[in-house]
Amino acid sequence: MTQPLTIALSKGRILDDTLPLLAEANIHPAEDISKSRKLIFDTNHDHIKLLVIRAADVPTYVEYGAADLGISGKDVLMEFNSENLYEPLDLKIATCRLMTAALKGAVLPEGRLKVATKFVDVTKRYFAEQGRQIDIIKLYGGMELAPIVGLADLIVDIVDTGKTLVANGLEPRDHMAYISSRLVVGKAAMKVKHAQIQPIIDQMSAAVDRQE
Ligand code: ADP
Ligand code: PRP
Ligand code: MG
Repeated sequence: MTQPLTIALSKGRILDDTLPLLAEANIHPAEDISKSRKLIFDTNHDHIKLLVIRAADVPTYVEYGAADLGISGKDVLMEFNSENLYEPLDLKIATCRLMTAALKGAVLPEGRLKVATKFVDVTKRYFAEQGRQIDIIKLYGGMELAPIVGLADLIVDIVDTGKTLVANGLEPRDHMAYISSRLVVGKAAMKVKHAQIQPIIDQMSAAVDRQE
């Protein structure tokens, strides 16, 4: 018997790149996701459903087994830092960099640094490795504002074109990680539903290769 499968998609900018990839892998939502307020969708496969949720919530759904697979930014996965997820495929979409940034030309203080970010654990690990003492200021977005108003010396955030940094008088400093979206699979789901999950990984992998 074919077991049911649920795939959790990140809404927002990842979704725009995900839908063409799913279509390439022959997974088509039964209705137009971008025009609906629904959060769960049937597909052209009787056994496959799609969830559309906040990007930061995708690993949680997959870890608890509420979804078998998920599509998540590497930044989100680094912050979530779970041992219960496999990451079998780089989808090469929503590519960007995780960077530190400061006001242009600013000389950073010698002692403790004030660092504003939504990536609290990634930031703690990064500066601990460098042996640098920091105070974290947790924000939920618009990190680029923090150095301007004196809330922080440095930010840790996503940089793509660099336009947001420039528009706010900031400059990139350290490149912390290359970011793209990844296919993730719950370890428990992989054991129990391997026969259903492996073909999806294979189809998505072929779709990624065709899009390159
Ligand atoms: P959020 O509301 O969580 O910021 P987004 O849709 O803006 O949601 O971002 C979702 C994911 O897309 C991020 O986790 C990251 O992997 C990627 N991303 C974020 N900003 C950019 C960007 N400017 N360019 C490319 N990818 C990005
Ligand atoms: C993201 C990120 C940066 C910006 C980088 O913000 O947090 O602010 O994009 O892109 P750029 O280098 O091309 O300018 P987003 O637009 O997602 O806003 P948010 O703070 O609501 O997440
Ligand atoms: Mg964003």
